[in-house]
Amino acid sequence: MKAACVRDYKLLAKKRLPKFLFEYLAGGSYSEVTMKQNIADLQALSLRQRVLSGSPDIDTKVELFGSNYNLPVALGPVGLAGMYARRGECQAIKAAESSGVPFALSTVGVCPIDEVAKVSNKPFWFQLYMIKDRSFMIDLLTQAREAKCSALIFTVDMPVPGSRYRDYHSGLAGESWLSGNLRRVSQAIMKPSWALDVGLLGMPHKLGNVAPVLKKNSGLEDFMGWMSSNFDPAVSWKDIEFVRDNWDGPIILKGILDPEDALQAAKLNVDGIIVSNHGGRQLDGVISSAKSLPRIADAVGDKLDVLVDGGITSGLDVVRMLALGAKSVLLGRSWVYALAAKGQIGVEHVIDLIHKEMIVAMTLTGCRSLKDINRKVIDNSLIK
Ligand code: GLV
Repeated sequence: MKAACVRDYKLLAKKRLPKFLFEYLAGGSYSEVTMKQNIADLQALSLRQRVLSGSPDIDTKVELFGSNYNLPVALGPVGLAGMYARRGECQAIKAAESSGVPFALSTVGVCPIDEVAKVSNKPFWFQLYMIKDRSFMIDLLTQAREAKCSALIFTVDMPVPGSRYRDYHSGLAGESWLSGNLRRVSQAIMKPSWALDVGLLGMPHKLGNVAPVLKKNSGLEDFMGWMSSNFDPAVSWKDIEFVRDNWDGPIILKGILDPEDALQAAKLNVDGIIVSNHGGRQLDGVISSAKSLPRIADAVGDKLDVLVDGGITSGLDVVRMLALGAKSVLLGRSWVYALAAKGQIGVEHVIDLIHKEMIVAMTLTGCRSLKDINRKVIDNSLIK
């Protein structure tokens, strides 16, 4: 099948990946209500069709944290990308660079900062969680600075991990070392092209950035365990100072869902926030990103840059999010499905599809550049 959209890439990814990996990527926490609501609320927003205002030059360029990009679309931080494709983070950053969009490397990526820095020509963003071991955080921030990362995404919505039932059903979580490995290996051999390309030739399968602290136990089986035992449940606003003291560049807080928290972030002079419920992977039942975004954008005005993720599967969705007040969006699952299916080329294709979809949506809503995209692009009666 030739993929024509993100949904097609999801089907291709499902075909190629061992079950435990597909389920980890596609799933959300608890009953997955928020995960589904992210998509439903966004797609329920009606765009206002405007005609006879066409322009041959639609401009989608954006400036973010001091750099210029072709699209207001970033490849957001996703853990374990190097399990979805061979050295996946390296393939993804090459796709981001050739497409002119930002790439954010996750703390829990497979490829470590220095490996990604070696294949990239432009600065990338680095994402960090609040980790109990502060000296390890300082070490990671130092590595990010040395790699010339141009912005830090500091994730604040994971003081404790939400439970993802699919991981228990698939063998990624809650198993003994032996039975977990047996289950995962048996799923992998059912997918021979992944097993050869990624399973064998994509080694080492470590959490590259955290391998030094995990030492011998740095394999995939320790992923969930490491997250739950090392993320700091006591993370608080005063820790932003700690981050600020150890990072000179732009700081973007990821996981803001409430206007009061957004205002607090603005008071602390962070450079940006990402309106996010972690793709519906944390507290199930919270508001969708699309519903929370306009309130937050109204509350903070231009005190900081407002970015958003959650449920974006097309260029039409990008236009909707911009209309609700975002300066840029981040993709998560949408780019990783393409990475899993086709590697770097797949990610480049998805970005190109989203670009083309944005051009159609902007033309038919009468917008020539991103500054024309505002609430008027959406039927007012639907923004609550
Ligand atoms: C990690 O951030 C995850 O959502 O699994």
